[in-house]
Amino acid sequence: MAAPAATEKAQWSSRFAFVMAAVGSAVGLGNLWRFASEAGENGGGAFIVVYLMCVLFIGIPALMCEYAIGRASDKASAVQSVTDVARRSNASTAWSATAWIGMIAAFMVVCFYSVVAGWVIAYIPKFALGMFNGLSDEQISAQFGALNGSLGQEIVYMTIFVALTVWLVARGVNEGIEWAAKMLMPVFFFLLLALCAVALMIGDAGAAMSWMYLPDFSAINPSVAVSALGQAFFSLSLGSAIMITYGSYLPRGINIPRSSAIVGGMDTFVAVVAGMAIFPIVFALGMSPDSGAGLFFQTLPVALHSVPGGNLFGTAFFVLALFAAVTSSISLLEVSTAYLVDKLKLSRTKMAIALGAGIWVVGALCAYSDAFFGALDNISGKIMLPLAALIAVLFVGWRMTKEIRDQEIEGLPAPVMRVLYLLIRFIAPAAIAIILIMGAIQQWAPGLYQSIFPPQPAAVEEGAAPGALEDEDTAAEAEQAEEQAETVPEPEG
Ligand code: TRP
Repeated sequence: MAAPAATEKAQWSSRFAFVMAAVGSAVGLGNLWRFASEAGENGGGAFIVVYLMCVLFIGIPALMCEYAIGRASDKASAVQSVTDVARRSNASTAWSATAWIGMIAAFMVVCFYSVVAGWVIAYIPKFALGMFNGLSDEQISAQFGALNGSLGQEIVYMTIFVALTVWLVARGVNEGIEWAAKMLMPVFFFLLLALCAVALMIGDAGAAMSWMYLPDFSAINPSVAVSALGQAFFSLSLGSAIMITYGSYLPRGINIPRSSAIVGGMDTFVAVVAGMAIFPIVFALGMSPDSGAGLFFQTLPVALHSVPGGNLFGTAFFVLALFAAVTSSISLLEVSTAYLVDKLKLSRTKMAIALGAGIWVVGALCAYSDAFFGALDNISGKIMLPLAALIAVLFVGWRMTKEIRDQEIEGLPAPVMRVLYLLIRFIAPAAIAIILIMGAIQQWAPGLYQSIFPPQPAAVEEGAAPGALEDEDTAAEAEQAEEQAETVPEPEG
């Protein structure tokens, strides 16, 4: 099928297709890889409690705002959607900053995301060819370090991933994005549940459960809140203009609040289930849960190694994780593609390829430098996504005309609606603003941050694994280094 003409606006073919595409965007490596490493570095249960609150009170209302802006306009790109709705609301077109910042953040994210997705690809042949057979647990988890240390391999795998993303985006909304999401997401859910069951059986389920669900409230500090909110935005694909773009493909008659709740709920469910697939193994191995970015890649092979049929299962799961990553990365690439196709009136295919080349270059830099990787992740996750989402929420809460707003965010009983507006107008913006400011201080003035919030050694130790007491000073050091580079891949061993 020919790519849609630049001005012709695509539409999701059904509610199921939309929900799967939105869930496909939201569910990805953020849930599998980033959630576990963030929760691990931020004290487990304490992080998870704050995270759930962020999703419920900030994330889901913000999702509604982004969909509402997108659907309210018949424009093809997020920047134009906001500009158009702002004009019709007699507001400044400067509100389109939400889409600009979001679009740039999405581009930054997809660059390091492609590197991580490349790691996922690298693990597929390892399982398929039985390369873990006969290795010890330590040898298996050391493989991540070897991969991470080989720039050549990282680039090869990343290239495959970028090509896959470009191909699907070039195929367009219905033939590419929707098709991939509808086929792949349901199978992914099924395999994830199976994996979780395996991990709970063979791992240390008790230690994992109490670490995840019995929060140590004293471990909650501003840094945990900043990370939790950043993770919520990352995981829900918020603040990146993606949900505005996807909202603009949304036909009338689909209930935005309900869809937002479904997307938020499914995304959170996947993160939590993935945590339950990872942490029992972490504790069973005596690893420290704060060992960072490698957690996902180090624990699952170990888990699968020790069950019959593990290689087959592992191959299937990593293929599916790859699909989850692809349905997210196509959304990341879609925002800037939609914008440029519309702006330059070039074909989707050409634009997707050109942007893919850019992603490849920046991605290679991320593979080369862990510090650069960490900086892109931190600045996009902790600053840009929250800032863009803040602007979107303020716009819908305060500047969009009531008429437009009521047309988009509707279908709820009046009392629920009132609570929702309270969230959209006051609570969510205030919370985002506070967390954003703390994140900015943490990022750019770490000295100031430490003098306002001195590190609490007690809370740090709580974050360490019961089985990893020898790791005390590493944990303290990690806390100190945290504001510089949170996701620098640093496998232990
Ligand atoms: N949410 C996806 C995940 O969890 C990643 C993602 C897609 C994303 N779109 C985004 C992250 C926009 C930040 C911004 O894997």
